[in-house]
Formats: sequence, C-alpha cells, structure tokens
Amino acid sequence: MPGAPSPDELLDTAVEVARRAADTARRMRATGVDTVATKSTVTDVVTAADRAVEREVVEMIGRMRPGDRVLGEEFGAGNTGDDTGGAVRWIVDPIDGTVNYLYGLPHYAVSLAAEVDGVVVAGVVRNGATGDEWTARLGGGAYRAGRRLAGSPETDLGQALVATGFGYDPARRRHQAGVLAGLIADVRDVRRLGAAAIDLCLAAEGAVDAYFEKGLNPWDLAAGGLIAREAGLLVAGLHGAPPGHDLVIAAPPALFGPLHDRLAHHDAAGGP
Ligand code: IPD
Repeated sequence: MPGAPSPDELLDTAVEVARRAADTARRMRATGVDTVATKSTVTDVVTAADRAVEREVVEMIGRMRPGDRVLGEEFGAGNTGDDTGGAVRWIVDPIDGTVNYLYGLPHYAVSLAAEVDGVVVAGVVRNGATGDEWTARLGGGAYRAGRRLAGSPETDLGQALVATGFGYDPARRRHQAGVLAGLIADVRDVRRLGAAAIDLCLAAEGAVDAYFEKGLNPWDLAAGGLIAREAGLLVAGLHGAPPGHDLVIAAPPALFGPLHDRLAHHDAAGGP
C-alpha cells in the first residue's frame, strides 16, 4: 500500500490522470457525441464520453493508488479497490461543461482534485479541447503553463468582468437570472462561459475579475476552488459561510466585499 501521500505526489497523479482523461474526451468528441441520458432535468445531459472518461479516471487511480476513495459526477461515491478506509478521496468531474461539449464548443474540462482527511490538497483542471491546464497544491500556489497565478489586480467592482453560471432547474435559473439582472448595472459586464471549473481558473489567472454561482456540486468546485484560493482569491459563500451549494463567490480580496454585498442584497444564495 502506498504510504501517506504528499500534496506533490497527489498532484503528479492528478495531472497524469487528467491529461489522459482529457485526451479521451477530445478523441471521443472528434468521432461525434452520443447523449445517453438526462439527469436532474431534460436539459441536464450525460454523454457516453462523460461516463467513459469517469470510468477511465477511476481505473487509473485504482491502478496508481489502490484503495483510495472516489466521488464522481456520474457514478457517485465509490472505492477503487478494497475498502481500506484510506484518507485520500478523489473528486472528479469527467467533463465539466457538458453542454459545450455537446455543441462542439471548445470550452470543457476534466476537473480532478485530491482530498486528504476532508481537505482538498491538490487539483488540476484541464481543458480537453485546447490543452490549457491549471494546477494547485495546498500552500504551494496555483499555476498555468509554469506561470504562478495571482488573480486580477482590479479593485473597482464597477470595472469588473464577472463570470457566472446557471443550474439546470428552470425555477433556479429564473432566480439566478433575477440576481444577474440586479447585478449587471453594477459591474463592467458578465460572462457565462459554461464550465464552472474553468470559470474558477479564469478568475484565478485574472482573465475574468471574479466569479459567482449558486448550486455548484463538489466536483465543479473542488479543483477550481483550490486553484482560485492558491492564486490569492477569497472563495466563500455569504456571511462567512463556506463555499458550496448555496453560493460560491471567488474574487480577489479588494472585490470580494463589494461583490458579496451586492449578491447578498439580491439574495443570490436564496431561491430554489
Ligand atoms: C455545469 C457547468 C456550468 C455550471 C453548472 C454546472 P456540467 O457542469 O459547470 O457552467 O453553470 O452549474 O452544473 O453539467 O457541465 O458538468
């Protein structure tokens, strides 16, 4: 059995697995996409590639670190070998941005994070179409292509480009659109790019100034959330709540307070 893993070792494993998985997603996209099922609503699709990629991730981790636990978007919680009660849990979104993937938009990613005793210590997000890759280790910074990330230097919310996303449930989308309608006059502009994990990485590198979204699942947030935090962003919910299903705000310290207050005013964590 492998011994207690360091964040470095876990990141090496994560990167190796994510690269192979992203390659599988890209190759499968080139041969056409099969929608095999819907999940929470009729617009929440699952493709054959989502399942194949998650299966490949679980198999690779099982070979490299037998006994580690896995939480995946498509197959839920499981174990890669005998249940050793190991401390490491991998959190995987095989294709974040499934709707982009379905439409052939080159903006989807494999998101893979390693958690030790409930704390995310390593994470990678890899865009399957472009090969862009963001990584972070707890306490070790966030990187893209060898460049350390530090978020946006913007300090004025009125000048900020803010990314967000919408859930699949129509009632939730309506609420989210209302929040956005309230916010849009207070910021430079908004972006809805379609892959939460990449949104968090773009905020980490300052390609957008901030990001928020209600309704994220652990696999959307785990790797990108670490990458954003390690880039110096504050990543949290409203009123000191941890980031999670109710709301995730990821912003540089100077923007976090003003954005938080606008989002609280518009009840961004409320609604269905
Ligand atoms: C979705 C995307 C989208 C976000 C949704 C997520 P999926 O993940 O990240 O940008 O707005 O909240 O569910 O379904 O493509 O893995």
